[in-house]
Amino acid sequence: MDAHLFEFLSLLLRWLHIIAGVAWIGASFYFIWLDNSLDPPAPGSEQARKGVSGELWAVHGGGFYNPQKYAVAPASLPDKLHWFKWEAYTTWLSGTALLVVVYWLRAQTMMVDPAVAALTTSQAVGIGLGSMVGSWFVYDALCRSPLGRHDGWLGAVVFGLLTLLAWGLHQFLGGRAAYIHVGAAIGTIMAANVFFVIIPGQREMVRSMRAGGLPDPIFGLRGKQRSVHNNYFTLPVLFIMISNHFSATFGHPHAWAVLMLIAAAGVSIRHFFNRKHRGVLAWQYPVVGAILLAGAAWWTAPRLAPLPPVVGPVNFERVRAIMGERCLNCHAPVPTFPGLAQPPAGVVLHTPDALVKNAQRIYQQVVVTRMMPLGNITKMSDEERAVIAAWVAAGASTQ
Ligand code: HEC
Repeated sequence: MDAHLFEFLSLLLRWLHIIAGVAWIGASFYFIWLDNSLDPPAPGSEQARKGVSGELWAVHGGGFYNPQKYAVAPASLPDKLHWFKWEAYTTWLSGTALLVVVYWLRAQTMMVDPAVAALTTSQAVGIGLGSMVGSWFVYDALCRSPLGRHDGWLGAVVFGLLTLLAWGLHQFLGGRAAYIHVGAAIGTIMAANVFFVIIPGQREMVRSMRAGGLPDPIFGLRGKQRSVHNNYFTLPVLFIMISNHFSATFGHPHAWAVLMLIAAAGVSIRHFFNRKHRGVLAWQYPVVGAILLAGAAWWTAPRLAPLPPVVGPVNFERVRAIMGERCLNCHAPVPTFPGLAQPPAGVVLHTPDALVKNAQRIYQQVVVTRMMPLGNITKMSDEERAVIAAWVAAGASTQ
């Protein structure tokens, strides 16, 4: 496909994915807050007699709202009932389409890192797809097993298995792709929770009520459990979605552990808010979250890999020649690298001025994180990295 069209398609998909995700996670946060903030009606009140288990008052957008939750179900169902499902489906569909466009269709550049494993395209995509589908089956089986009745243990086991997944993916894929596929696996679990458990359960409840009976409370309980899981998944998954801008995380030698450290911080912080909605200020949770994040910041701080000594002079001509050979196929105004319509991240390195101006960024990418050249596709040597380091240390001039 034309490289520009391809890029524009990924722009539209990303835009849609964010919009749908905001709507979904916004609704999820709102309903968890609502559930946690409900107060039971006074005993013997009209609400209590109707079967209302909790209610609250809120003011928003110039009006007053008074939502009420029924313990199992109201005596009769209104004709018009609002459902919340397309936010979740649209988020998953657009996210998966984006994954295909950005990663699967360019697997050799975006997923495969020969230093990790020299996979074929179908192997890489197979691992990606398999991890998404497999994660759902394992998670769903756990929730339905006897372990599913012990929320704390279930949470710990799910966290352990996701750690295993993150570790496993890092044995096969490049760091960036491994991260995004952990996110895709969690996102798939979240959307599948809505599609296979929450919505069918609600349909079953509505069906039995329309048939004149009382719904089995198990559907409500099961749906609630999955919706609480989704709530705890949100912060980790949102971190993963932005992580590809931060090479210190996915480029770390123990990137999988960094991921789980930050995910644990997210879960802990989310837990604080869920407790707070119930009126409990449990400060130990955000404190634990902050400690974990500080640990992640310290752990991902750059530690320079040793470089070989430079043989010969360090001058601009030499730097320019290295850049020409290793970088310009991607970072020129018109890249020659297949599939690139524009220089990535808007970074061009074709003039002396551009090289001097970007010296610090080049140093960061080439010497500190070693994320460039991407997947070392142009085979930059350690000695060349040492030349760049020496040039920047000497003031990055055009002399
Ligand atoms: C195969 C194509 C390719 C090659 C070769 C390549 N890059 Fe990149 N570069 C990219 C892509 C893709 C990005 C965008 C990454 C992102 O969005 O995080 C990028 C981003 C960058 C950035 C911006 C990162 C930031 O966020 O500040 C710099 C600087 C950079 N490259 C420098 C280099 C240098 C120096 C070389 C040569 C040693 C090089 N690149 C070789 C594809 C390439």
